[in-house]
Amino acid sequence: MQRKFIVGNWKMNGALTKNEALLKEVANGVAQMSGVDCAVCVPFPYLAQTQSLLHDTPIKWGAQNVHQANKGAYTGEVGVSMLRDFGCDYVIVGHSERRSLYGESSQLVAEKFAAVQKAELSPILCVGETLEQREAGTTEAVVTEQLAEVIKLRGIQSFRTAVIAYEPVWAIGTGKTASPEQAQEVHAFIRKRIAGFDEEFGQALCILYGGSVNASNAAELFAMPDINGGLIGGASLVAEDFLAICNAGQK
Ligand code: 13P
Repeated sequence: MQRKFIVGNWKMNGALTKNEALLKEVANGVAQMSGVDCAVCVPFPYLAQTQSLLHDTPIKWGAQNVHQANKGAYTGEVGVSMLRDFGCDYVIVGHSERRSLYGESSQLVAEKFAAVQKAELSPILCVGETLEQREAGTTEAVVTEQLAEVIKLRGIQSFRTAVIAYEPVWAIGTGKTASPEQAQEVHAFIRKRIAGFDEEFGQALCILYGGSVNASNAAELFAMPDINGGLIGGASLVAEDFLAICNAGQK
C-alpha cells in the first residue's frame, strides 16, 4: 500500500511571524513520523520563507496556482519557472475556489496542469462537484468532465506524475465532511476512470480527499481503500491539528 500524502493548502492566509512558528512546529512534528509524506502549499510571497525553513526537512512545499504561460506580459501573474526557483515540488491547479471565483474553466486548468508538468513539477489537480450537482446525481459526470480536458491535452499517462484531489465543493470550509463512504465511492470511480484495469498504475495513483478534514475525522477517511491522503485547508493553519492529521496518515 502506498504511503499516505498529507498536503496543507493555506489558501490566502499567513503572516511572516506566524508562518515561522507554524512551519517550525510542523517540521519538528513531522520529523518524528516515518510513515507519512507531507507538503504545504503556501501563498506566493511566502515561498522564499518556506524554502528557507523547510529545505532540510522531510516536508515538501508548493504553490496554490500558476499561470499557464512561462513568462511574458501578464501583469500580476506568476510562472512555473519562478516556482522552481523557490524549490516547489507541487502546484495546486483547478481548486474549486479558482474555478468558481475566477472563472477558471477545465480547459484552462488543463493548460496549467501541462505547464506544471513541463517544468517537471507535480500538479495537484482538484476536482469535485457542488451540492446542487450532487443532488442532481451528476457527480460522476462533473468529475469526468474535469478530468477529460487534462486527458485530452496531456493523455491519460500524464497522471503517472500528478496527484488528484477530490474536493466536493459542499464540504470545503463548511465543516460538512463527505462521509468516508461517499468519498470512497468517488475516489474508486476516479481511480477506475484513470487507471482502468492497469493494476500497477491504479495502485500508484495518488488521490487525496479534501473538504473539512480535521483531527477527528482524518483516520476514518484515510482508512478507505482509495483515499491516499488529504488536502487540508483550515486545519493546516494550526500546527497541532495538521500534525494530528499527518499522524492519522501513518496508521
Ligand atoms: P477545508 O479543509 O478548510 O475545508 O478546505 C479544504 C480545501 O479546499 C483544501 O484545498
